[in-house]
Amino acid sequence: MSASPEPINVTDYERLASELLADGPAGYFNGGAGDENTLRANAEAWSRVTLRPRVCVDVGDMSTAVTVLGEQLSMPILVAPTALQRMAHDDGEPAMAKAAQAAGTLMVCSTLASSSLAEIAAAAPGGRRWLQLYLCRDRSVSNALVDQAVEAGATAIVVTVDAPYAGLRERDPRSGFVVPDHIDMPGVTAALGRSAGLTVEEFFSMVDPTLTWAKLEAFIASAPLPVLVKGIQCGEDARLACDHGVSGIIVSNHGGRQLDNVAPTADVLGEVVEAVSGRVEVLVDGGIRRGSDVCGALALGASAVLVGRPALWGLTVGGAAGAERVLEILRRELEITLALLGVTSPTQLTRAHVAGA
Ligand code: GLV
Repeated sequence: MSASPEPINVTDYERLASELLADGPAGYFNGGAGDENTLRANAEAWSRVTLRPRVCVDVGDMSTAVTVLGEQLSMPILVAPTALQRMAHDDGEPAMAKAAQAAGTLMVCSTLASSSLAEIAAAAPGGRRWLQLYLCRDRSVSNALVDQAVEAGATAIVVTVDAPYAGLRERDPRSGFVVPDHIDMPGVTAALGRSAGLTVEEFFSMVDPTLTWAKLEAFIASAPLPVLVKGIQCGEDARLACDHGVSGIIVSNHGGRQLDNVAPTADVLGEVVEAVSGRVEVLVDGGIRRGSDVCGALALGASAVLVGRPALWGLTVGGAAGAERVLEILRRELEITLALLGVTSPTQLTRAHVAGA
């Protein structure tokens, strides 16, 4: 019997995607900051979260459906914001939006997208989406993106706060990576006049490095949508975020792309959940590769996870169908893991489902 060539898990998609991508895009998507210690640690840490199953529970009727910040989703797995999706596949963000909609989940669209929000919305008119926002030095650029997001039916804004400057990513200068000529990032072009040909450091120069909690609070007060903050890595900042009016917190180290040698998100999630003490929902990203990782995150108190690179690998390999397949693989793994843990819904996971928590 010959082995099946069909990818059956996220790691298969990672391998296939890296065979398809040129060095520059592969390094940009897959790389991390510095020695990439946090990049590796993120995924490893989830595999060290030990699950505690209960048995002899009726798991005949399963559902992975959840409500996250009021959004009814087929599963607690969202598509994380990632830049330049047309570099993964010509169909880019519109294809990712179709995949998220088909999988019954929500896509967070990046400020660094290679499609406009209008194009994304046109591809998936009934889809759920949030806007990931960098607060730009020129606030009129951020405000215009917010207006476009409202127009495109977005229901929340995710402000990323861990990137006043791009992290020290060494794969990009080694490969000579710049935004390819045939790709435009409308958000960057609005801020800097062009995007093709820019290095990562150059396009991050549009981000306002003077952002403070007070400025964030002022933005939240004037925003037409609820605002989540992404990039929280300790209990102190989680409390400050709540005090300054956020509607949700995303525990994230930017996929290991910003500051190296920070703790993997699996290791700081518990501290943040405790600090927040139920005031707002807490989500987490970074290194989620399996349904069992999702269960670990939920048992530690997250209401949902986000996946960035896995969805990009699916997009690279098979466009919208590939990204949808990756999301479906994760949903199926989640369903089976829930059943084997002795619960019938993600909402039944508690601290008792992980060891030592
Ligand atoms: C964009 O947010 C990146 O990490 O390159």
